[in-house]
Amino acid sequence: MAKRRIARLDGRVSITNDATWWRSAVIYQIYPKSWADADGDGFGDLAGIRTRLGYLARLGVDAIWLSPWYRSPQADGGYDVADFRDIDPIFGTLADAEALIDEAHDLGLKVIVDIVPNHTSDQHRFFQEALASEPGSPAWDRYHCVRGADGGASPPNDWTSAFGGPAWDPVLDADGQPTGWWYLHVFDSAQPDLNWDNPEVREEFLDTLRFWFDRGVDGFRIDVATGLVKAEGYPHSGGGEEDRYPYWDQPGVHEIWREWRRVANEHQPPRAFVGEVWVGSQEAFVAYLRPDELHTAFNFDHLKCPWDASALRGVVERSLHAAGQVSAPSTWVLENHDVPRVRTRYGMEAAGARMPHANTAPPPDVVPDDARGLARARAGLLFMLGLPGSAYVYQGQELGLPEVLDLPAEVRQDPAFRRTGGAEGYRDGCRVPMPWTRQDHSFGFSPTGASWLPMPADWGELSVEAQLGDPGSMLELTRDALRIRRREPALGDGDLGWISEPDDPCLVLRRPAEETDPHVLVAVNMGEAPALVEATEVVLSSGRDPAPGRGGFWLPPDTAAWLR
Ligand code: GLC
Repeated sequence: MAKRRIARLDGRVSITNDATWWRSAVIYQIYPKSWADADGDGFGDLAGIRTRLGYLARLGVDAIWLSPWYRSPQADGGYDVADFRDIDPIFGTLADAEALIDEAHDLGLKVIVDIVPNHTSDQHRFFQEALASEPGSPAWDRYHCVRGADGGASPPNDWTSAFGGPAWDPVLDADGQPTGWWYLHVFDSAQPDLNWDNPEVREEFLDTLRFWFDRGVDGFRIDVATGLVKAEGYPHSGGGEEDRYPYWDQPGVHEIWREWRRVANEHQPPRAFVGEVWVGSQEAFVAYLRPDELHTAFNFDHLKCPWDASALRGVVERSLHAAGQVSAPSTWVLENHDVPRVRTRYGMEAAGARMPHANTAPPPDVVPDDARGLARARAGLLFMLGLPGSAYVYQGQELGLPEVLDLPAEVRQDPAFRRTGGAEGYRDGCRVPMPWTRQDHSFGFSPTGASWLPMPADWGELSVEAQLGDPGSMLELTRDALRIRRREPALGDGDLGWISEPDDPCLVLRRPAEETDPHVLVAVNMGEAPALVEATEVVLSSGRDPAPGRGGFWLPPDTAAWLR
């Protein structure tokens, strides 16, 4: 088969049977709506993904993570699931999903899919059954349906939704009149939160895990992994930061992950989890990574870190220290479908503004320094791929796509945009479809030129076609880095030793920590002047070739390199 030949030509080593692949994998996130559209309706689909899997094998990633592909009204980009065991018709069919999994495996790619256990869509069978029954019924017990305050006239407490407004909506009777009861939704009102004390809810998800594991899925990305258990009695939050509310990080959530881990271990090789774990402290974070809980979790401290050497060094040190306490690998991530693109984020910083990580409105009147933003996006990626552990690349990050800042309000789909009157909810800017070709309408994303979000007119020059084979492109930099990482035993899982001093604006570290041969030096210059890195050879640089100097090479500002 042609696809298998591609795999061999690239010298890919199949990792399909390695039980610890997740410790060092580079995982590519696909946002299915925006990656490749085969049927021409302007929404990406599974047929589109299948035709382009060869691109990912040639890129050199180890695995893909697909944002939700389940049946969904798409009130929150598919994170509102109506049926966890079927595929949404805009994406295709269950047969397409099964074929996709098999074809990815043929190419040596693992497949991780998203699962959303904190809430369902309001169209899910469970919620529809609740709506058809009286509050207090067994069907309502699968959700959080609570008697309101003030005789039922007000929400039961002061909890707010992460998307703005109250976290409670009134339960109405058949005539549309308030019942005095309220249901909880930490996100959109179309995403009611499940009650994880209910045994049917637990069973539903254990069955869903097995359903997909039986179809060959290698792991799950767990949405909102800290949110499932709410504080008993629904106490008032007492105000303050929303991320400290008593619906996050409650002790009971760990028991759920222990149960899920047992199911993952029922399969051979064992299946793996990566949790979306936003918590306040490293201590709370590593609790999720204990050996009988989740295998890995996203490193959001890395994602939030500004372009600053001492901040980045601190994040690297603390992350490795924390993960090491529970023998977990660290993960590294700069982009995903919820945060502004790194090129624009770093470009804003270079122009003197911080861009909030959670996609609140971009700073007004600041034009990002795009040249420095791109240089730093390239350097950030190369540095990340040199760190110990596994790493995530979000679709289009390998092309250096910028955040689309000027989407008109009427095309925006993020439910938080609507709920906050435009104060928040700017996540569509990183979800604009992928440009594949230079010339076509919608740049090869869709055969008809349709696209669910408008694509900037100049994206042809950022397309895969424009970058492939151009040695100066970010795509070729990514391919080079992944090819070297795959063949280089010093990279991937393992440890590191610092060579640079703690206050040095140029970070230099050795992989592995032990003075052994072979080793790789990983460096990034976050200062304003070139920095001399002692080495005999440059393996790969994110920018201009570092000039030779006495005993080493001069690394320019905003540049990363791998050296020996
Ligand atoms: C996670 C997802 C985000 C979604 C939210 C609610 O944070 O990454 O896209 O809106 O959960 O499911």
